[in-house]
Amino acid sequence: MRKKVLVTGGTGYIGSHTVVELQKNGFEVLIADNLSNSKMEVLDGIEAISGIRPQFQKVDLSCSKACADFFDKQDEVHAIIHFAASKAVGESVVKPLLYYRNNLNSLINIMQAMKDNEISNLVFSSSCTVYGQPDQLPVTESTPRKEAESPYGNTKSICEDIIRDTISAHHDLNGIALRYFNPIGAHPTAKIGELPMGVPNNLIPFLTQSVVKIRPQLNVFGNDYNTPDGSCIRDYINVVDLAKAHVVAIQRLLENKQKNRYEYFNVGTGQGVSVLEIIDSFERATGEKVPFEIVERREGDIEQIYADTTFANKELGWKSEASLEETLLSAWKWQLSLAENWKIV
Ligand code: WQD
Repeated sequence: MRKKVLVTGGTGYIGSHTVVELQKNGFEVLIADNLSNSKMEVLDGIEAISGIRPQFQKVDLSCSKACADFFDKQDEVHAIIHFAASKAVGESVVKPLLYYRNNLNSLINIMQAMKDNEISNLVFSSSCTVYGQPDQLPVTESTPRKEAESPYGNTKSICEDIIRDTISAHHDLNGIALRYFNPIGAHPTAKIGELPMGVPNNLIPFLTQSVVKIRPQLNVFGNDYNTPDGSCIRDYINVVDLAKAHVVAIQRLLENKQKNRYEYFNVGTGQGVSVLEIIDSFERATGEKVPFEIVERREGDIEQIYADTTFANKELGWKSEASLEETLLSAWKWQLSLAENWKIV
């Protein structure tokens, strides 16, 4: 019998790619999303890739009644992947209450529904931002979490603790938190990707928009860091590789070899890459020139972080596969498709 997975935030960037990978692995998928940062047309893209249109319900999971009513209407759900959250670092500094209310209430309502509906398995979308600027690199899962650099990052840390404490209090629950590094790229079909909603905060969408002249140039936020070329270093993970990590996490939970467990996994490539190296790789991969200028540092940026992925490689049997250049090429193809198919220019 096909197992059913609820994907909250499933029309979002990482959520939509994860829905496709779940469907490819034989799971039935139900999406719950409030469409605050995505569009219904993403369902068309998912269907175009997998041939299966996922069930969809528009719902604000941060509202306890709407969330409970939603779950009351569902038949059996075997596991939940919880993506639905506000995720713009800069916005979270300006609107902290919106972030705490949305991100914390959504998770609390989801875990309450798990208890009320006897759903045992949760995969949580966490972030390397919980490490702050680590003292040692690469970071392992036992690297101590640090004071978050933003309210957004703090909600991720607090959510990890909410899950830990709820699982320790309820022995029928199991959880996995996936700590993403920097997700980039798009599905190779260019039918789904990161939908630009306003001015991009993240590097890759801003870079591709500067190449198609939606933005005059890419501003590189500082080249005076203590790194080989002076620009910040991150661990850029291909979004499809990241989506695949969610499938193996769900499979691990459903095997249920060890009851009542809560595990954290770093999901990155294990390689640190600088902003200037990204620009260079993008130009090599696409043949396009990136118009950029070095400007002052961005407030709150950490200097460098990249993952030790040994635990995920060993325990999940998962490893990132895509090369940086093919990932950057997928981001470029997606940018071109936005103009052509989504009329977003
Ligand atoms: C990457 C590098 C910038 C834009 C954040 C969140 C993290 C996750 C990913 C949600 C940095 C530089 C960027 C630009 C630039 N978000 N940059 N010019 O800040 O590492 O991580 O997004 O899950 O949780 O913390 O990602 O893409 O914003 O920046 O020079 O226009 O690119 O300084 O060094 P970040 P980013």
